[in-house]
Amino acid sequence: MLDFNNFKKKNICLMGLMGSGKSLIGRDLSNYLNIKFYDTDKEIELKAKKSINLIFSEEGESYFRDLEEKVCLELLKNNNCIISLGGGSIINRKIRQAIKLNSFSIYLKVNIDILLKRLKTSKKRPLLNNKKKETLERLYNERKEFYQKANLIVNNEKSKSDILKKIKLELNSYEK
Ligand code: S3P
Repeated sequence: MLDFNNFKKKNICLMGLMGSGKSLIGRDLSNYLNIKFYDTDKEIELKAKKSINLIFSEEGESYFRDLEEKVCLELLKNNNCIISLGGGSIINRKIRQAIKLNSFSIYLKVNIDILLKRLKTSKKRPLLNNKKKETLERLYNERKEFYQKANLIVNNEKSKSDILKKIKLELNSYEK
C-alpha cells in the first residue's frame, strides 16, 4: 500500500469539469490512503453560509470566484490530504501555482456527452441552467490547456473500481 509519508508531493488534487466524478473518486481515495478529504465547494458553502446556487444568484459569479480563490489557497496549504477542486478553480493563476507547489494533480477526463447525461437532473450547477451542451463545450475549451497539465490524466468514463485501481497503480509508481 502507498505510504503517504514517502509521497513526493503532499496533497492529491482532483480536477475536471462538473460531473467528472472528483468528489466520488476523492472520497474513495481518501479512505484508501486514510487521509483527509476536502471538497472546495463544500468549504465555500460553509464559509459563505449559503449554497453555491444562492451564492451565484445573490452575489454573482465574481464574488464566488473570489471566495473560491481564498478557500482553495487556504486548503492547498495543508499537507497530506485529497482535495476535490471545483471545476472552474483552475482558471485562477494563483490556484494553479499553489497546486504545482505542493500537490500531485489528477485530471478526470470525461467526454461531454457522458457529462451531459450525468448532469441532466443536477440542480446544483448554476452555470448549467440552460444551453448545457454549449456551456460545457465552452468551459472545456477555456480550461483544457490547464487540465492537460495535470500530473496524471485518467479517463473516468468506466467503472469506479477500474479508475481507482488505475490511480492507485500510478500513485505507487510515482512514489518510487
Ligand atoms: C463550477 C463547478 C462547480 C462549482 C460551481 C462552478 C465551474 O463545482 O464550483 O458551480 O465553474 O465549473 P464542481 O466541478 O464540483 O461541480
